[in-house]
Amino acid sequence: MKNLLYIDGCVSRENSRTEKLAQACLRRILASDDCRMETVVLEDAGLTALDGAMLKKRERWIGMGDFSDDYFRFAKTFAAADVVVFAVPYWDLAFPALFKVYLEHLAILNLTFRYTEDGHPVGLTRVRKVLYVTTAGGFIGRANFGFEYVKGLMQNLFGIADVRFVGAEGLDICGHDPRGILEAAIRTLQTKTFERRPAEKETGGPGYSVQKILQKSPPELQKGPSCGILRLKTLLKSGPLFWRMMNHENFRNP
Ligand SMILES: Cc1cc2nc3c(=O)[nH]c(=O)nc-3n(C[C@H](O)[C@H](O)[C@H](O)COP(=O)(O)O)c2cc1C
Repeated sequence: MKNLLYIDGCVSRENSRTEKLAQACLRRILASDDCRMETVVLEDAGLTALDGAMLKKRERWIGMGDFSDDYFRFAKTFAAADVVVFAVPYWDLAFPALFKVYLEHLAILNLTFRYTEDGHPVGLTRVRKVLYVTTAGGFIGRANFGFEYVKGLMQNLFGIADVRFVGAEGLDICGHDPRGILEAAIRTLQTKTFERRPAEKETGGPGYSVQKILQKSPPELQKGPSCGILRLKTLLKSGPLFWRMMNHENFRNP
């Protein structure tokens, strides 16, 4: 049985579109894999950003290899997961600050990653796949900074090669039907988003570096995740809406 970790970073608790899209992704995963799911709702998790005093304590614990404090619970849960789904709305070209605070809790030396003698980070988690789910009021285009940052962190620090994007865009544009866009995004969730990639079978356990994974992966994986293709398809599908949006006065350059 796999451990599925769902990180709910949707700040609008009641009516979050991101949450709806993420739930559809979770249903797909649970339908195809035997998983035990754990949910962390970031708003209820009591997260606080590192300050000077906490940083000192944390460094002392890490130095002693003592990860027994409750502070490390987020890193431990993350390290024990096989599949992770992050759900965060597209805010200010990225994601809410609370999610950054959560990510700060994950990067723990000798718990979720370590350094080789020549200074390269190597992941120490079980995680083999990460899905990043978001919804945006406008169009993300090339400004997918939240996803790109998370992908960089997952790949470079934790050695998780398989990091994929799922999004629905243009939800807050005048004249758009947000419910319809969301339903279409859910209906057209790409089967390949949930497929296993060869790298999953080829890679060994924890400690496998991303460089090795990429060297062993097929060329299409080396080029990065399929977010570009997904976005292109979304754009093509919503072509008329896209052009209307580009001509809308709110989106014209002053
Ligand atoms: C604080 C804040 C910042 C936002 N920043 C952006 C942005 O930079 N670009 C954009 O297209 N939409 C932006 N939006 C709109 C959200 O991306 C959009 O409404 C999204 O669907 C919200 O997800 P939710 O329904 O899960 O809360 C922002 C919304 C809020 C509340």
